[in-house]
Amino acid sequence: MIVIKSQREIDLMKKAGRIVAKVFETLEPLCKPGNTTKYLSEMAGKVIKENGGKSEEYGYYGYPGIVCTSVNDELVHGIPSNRKLRDGDIVSVDIVVSYQGYMADACRTFAVGNLKPNAEKLIRVTRECFFEAIKFAKPGYRIGDIGNAIEEHAKENGFTVTHDFTGHGIGHEMHEDPSVPCYGVAGTGSPVRKGMTIAIEPMVLEGRRETKTLADGWTAVSIDHKLTAHYENTVIITDDGCEIITLTDKEIEEING
Ligand code: MF3
Ligand code: CO
Repeated sequence: MIVIKSQREIDLMKKAGRIVAKVFETLEPLCKPGNTTKYLSEMAGKVIKENGGKSEEYGYYGYPGIVCTSVNDELVHGIPSNRKLRDGDIVSVDIVVSYQGYMADACRTFAVGNLKPNAEKLIRVTRECFFEAIKFAKPGYRIGDIGNAIEEHAKENGFTVTHDFTGHGIGHEMHEDPSVPCYGVAGTGSPVRKGMTIAIEPMVLEGRRETKTLADGWTAVSIDHKLTAHYENTVIITDDGCEIITLTDKEIEEING
C-alpha cells in the first residue's frame, strides 16, 4: 500500500531531512585517513541528538550502528568499527533519521584523500544516476521509468547496478511501498503520484553486480571485491516534479548554480 502524505507529515519529514543534511556536512570533512568509521558514526549520533532527531538505523533488526558506513567493495550496511580509513578509500555513509516519528533517508559516498580516476568516476556516475532518475519522479511517469534511468546511465558508463537492494517508499516507516529498484522497464510499475515520498538510491558497482553478505550478518560486499558507490535522497512528489529533502545547503547552491 502506497501512503500519500499529508502536509503535516511532509513538514516533519523535511525536518528529518535537514538533520540528515547536517550530518553529511559534519562527516564529509571527517572522512580523512586515520579516522575510524566508528568515529564517523559517533559524530553522526551527536549531530542527530543535538537537532532533536533519532537514528532509525540503530537497533533496526538489531543493526548496531548509528549510521551505515560501507568502505570500497562494501555496497551497503557496513557496520562502524575500528577500521581506519586510508588514503584512496571511498566510504558510503547511509543515514536514516526520524523527527517526531517521520523519516528521511539518504546516502553519500565520500572520498578519503586522493582517489584513483576509476573511483572518482564511480562516485560521479552514481550521483548522476540519481539526477537522471528524478527526471521521471513526477506525475505521469512510473516507477519503472526511474529504475530504467538509473540502469541506463550506469551501463552507458560501463558499470552495473544492484539487483539485491532497492530504494523504497518512506515516511512513518523506513520501508514503505513502492519498492524502487535501480533497474526497470520504462512505462511499467506503479504510477508516480503527488504526495508520494520515496528514497531513490542508485547503488552502482564497478564490476559484477552480485553481492554477498559477510559473516557479521549485515555488510554486503561486491562478489568480485571491486568498488561500489551509493547516492540516495528522499524526495517528495509534487504537482510537476519532486522536491529533494536531504540535500545540504552547499548541494542546493551547486544545483541552483
Ligand atoms: N538506509 C537503509 C535503506 O535504505 C537502511 C539501512 S538498514 C539498517 O534501506 F539496518 F542499517 F538500518
Ligand atoms: Co534507503
